Amino acid sequence: MRIIMDFKTQAAPAAGLAALTGADALLVVVCGDKLPAMDKPLADLLAAAVKDGDFKLERGQLLQAWRAAGVRAPRLVFVHGGDGAPKALRKAVGAGLAPLKGGGAQRLAIAVAGGPALEAAHGEAVAAAVHETLYVYRETKPSAPPAARLAGVTLVCGKGEATAAAAGLARGDAIAAGTTLARECANRPGNHCTPTFLAEQAKKLAKSHGLKVEVLERKDCEKLGMGAFLAVAQGSEQPPKFIVARYNGGAKDDAPVVLVGKGITFDTGGISLKPAAEMDEMKFDMGGAASVLGTLRAVAGMKARVNLVGIIPACENMPSGRAVKPGDVVTSLSGQTIEILNTDAEGRLILCDALTWAERLKPAVVVDIATLTGACVIALGHHRSGLFSADDALAAELLAAGEAALDPAWRMPLDEEYDEALKSNFADMGNVGGRAGGAITAAMFLKRFTAKLRWAHLDIAGTAWKSGAAKGATGRPVPLLTHFVLSRAR
Ligand code: BES
Ligand code: MN
Ligand code: ZN
Repeated sequence: MRIIMDFKTQAAPAAGLAALTGADALLVVVCGDKLPAMDKPLADLLAAAVKDGDFKLERGQLLQAWRAAGVRAPRLVFVHGGDGAPKALRKAVGAGLAPLKGGGAQRLAIAVAGGPALEAAHGEAVAAAVHETLYVYRETKPSAPPAARLAGVTLVCGKGEATAAAAGLARGDAIAAGTTLARECANRPGNHCTPTFLAEQAKKLAKSHGLKVEVLERKDCEKLGMGAFLAVAQGSEQPPKFIVARYNGGAKDDAPVVLVGKGITFDTGGISLKPAAEMDEMKFDMGGAASVLGTLRAVAGMKARVNLVGIIPACENMPSGRAVKPGDVVTSLSGQTIEILNTDAEGRLILCDALTWAERLKPAVVVDIATLTGACVIALGHHRSGLFSADDALAAELLAAGEAALDPAWRMPLDEEYDEALKSNFADMGNVGGRAGGAITAAMFLKRFTAKLRWAHLDIAGTAWKSGAAKGATGRPVPLLTHFVLSRAR
């Protein structure tokens, strides 16, 4: 569910934070290892808590008070925000909201004490944290807890901070709208989120945000010769959809930024069937597609002056009497033939035809986003997405976007030596290269289809969702992608 939240800045009252009006909850983010300067009621309260050992001046500490003497806001939470950098602030606001989100607070004020001057990145981090923390999935769970009553958040600003902080809040809010859309799509189970559902989501977005959407059906893809995409789709009862969504915010002849998102709405592995354990998580195998929709939403929501095209090859990977078999050879849209040695390496098969199709858009750059390999999770874990590009400038742009958005990536190699693994005796290439360097050989496979493009690949297998008790989609890498696209706007 999308939370509509009003984000504003508010000037710090001359009399001090305790005199702040208009808020029924006050979250004070305390930074640094010394007691920060604050007005008396708050300073006394915090000093006493530190003295009593109930609040340490270190990251992650939390202290709550209700109807504290001399403080206007009835709910008061102190949280320690480390050095006050945007990353620490995002964590602190998330932690500080936890005791408030199920309660009665409706108007929250957030103040940062003892930290650096607030900049746009701080505002963005605050908005991101609020949306991230308050999100509740309820599409297929009527018993989910009700949405928090919080409807407005103000960020208390000192002299000269308000303009930048307000711009940051607005940007964070727009990015969060995209991230939330991506989470909503990816969290839906495979029987709800089908290729047809993804096409409908794109059409909905077209209506609400002025995009142009085109959906190629199986027949259209057959005529074009998308043999690799169709081979994956052929085992399923669900019709495949090849979705193209365009946002035209730039000048007519601006070459578009193109994002290609893997849209496997469920990955059983096909005839190379996956084991049962955790197979349910393969409903998240359309996380790349979801991030493309989310980025379109964020960029269009900000009316950025850029042309952006999202391409989503969407289908299910199922075993059946019609399914593609190990050893089958197919002809891709590029004309290159592929021996499908493992039907579970399906993501690269749908992406290669989408990358070839993207050539006709004469793009400025193409970035594909895919939950592509378990090997990437082994290599990088769940913190950084894997970034692959032979183009140093493009790689640098994407890495910088990830750092700025607090949605980081890490560059991986693409040396030609890795290409060896894809050799086949029966086709131009095989679709797998063995266990060693699995994330890299997958990227090398895609690289064979990008000779005419400025191209980068993001493997988000470790970052698109969380497992365990907090199982759910993260909406990543919408923040990275949105920053990247914005940095390319006029
Ligand atoms: N969607 C999976 C990748 C994946 C697996 C992401 C587990 C996150 C967790 C992809 O389609 C896949 O199955 N890849 C195979 C490739 C292998 C057969 C070369 C993999 O990673 O095991
Ligand atoms: Mn697979
Ligand atoms: Zn997959």
